[in-house]
Amino acid sequence: MKEDILENYRNAGIIAAKVLREGALEIRAGGSYLELVESVESRVIDAGAELAFPLNVSLNEDAAHDTASTGDERVFSNGDVVKLDLGVQIEGYIADTATTVDLGNNPLLVEASREALEAAIKKVRPGVTAGELGAAIQAEIENRGYHPIANLTGHGLDQYVIHKPPTILNVGIHGGAVLEEGMVFAIEPFASTGSGRVGERARMEIYSQIGMKPVRIPSARAVLESVRSRRGLPFARRWMQNKKLDLAIAGLVRSQVLHGYPVLSDIAGSLVSQHEHTLIVTEDGCIVTTR
Ligand code: CO
Repeated sequence: MKEDILENYRNAGIIAAKVLREGALEIRAGGSYLELVESVESRVIDAGAELAFPLNVSLNEDAAHDTASTGDERVFSNGDVVKLDLGVQIEGYIADTATTVDLGNNPLLVEASREALEAAIKKVRPGVTAGELGAAIQAEIENRGYHPIANLTGHGLDQYVIHKPPTILNVGIHGGAVLEEGMVFAIEPFASTGSGRVGERARMEIYSQIGMKPVRIPSARAVLESVRSRRGLPFARRWMQNKKLDLAIAGLVRSQVLHGYPVLSDIAGSLVSQHEHTLIVTEDGCIVTTR
């Protein structure tokens, strides 16, 4: 990997780690969900980096892809299990990292995803398969009596690309991608008291541009204009000001110019914890960029 690319990955990782730690400390029962999101996102900008995706703040059975909407009035409550998933990028080189803040009494659930992540990181080196990482994740979570979420995965990263091979499952399989020196990917175990699978909710606040088509409707053109600088990276509905935003976005999703990311949830009443780091495979192990 070229030195300047490595520098961008490392600097993005340092900022992401610091901002995530600070963000986690801001969460308390009664605190505003929207204020937390805006505070964390502005810390990234103030540090001289950009967001790789909107801050994901997903509560309880929601595992991923929730974020604040404009005017969001939610507050954190006692008992909430809060996942913060932060993506920072510098020139498109991404640091993806997540942690769980427990406002209830679920230390073992939180430990499960954290230790699963550490166990997987310890195994990373060239020649190891993604399936072996998944097996390590699954064992740590199941040993504590929880279910790993089988249909959420870690993922390869590249410049302005959030999902590419290798896919790092949270359960053991035979085989899977063989890790190679220079690969960059995120490992993100989720531990659940529920079924261990997520489904889609109707709520959708995060989108990315996946296609190009001529668009004539002014509000839709304005949306595309404002997301062009994202270069395909996800953005939040909350980031836009547009009188006909809902209609514009719905039309762009229908015509497959935008892709929407619904909130992903395990069964009602369950609790999910998550931890995530980004790493780069080296000759004999890995560099974790987001510590
Ligand atoms: Co990720």
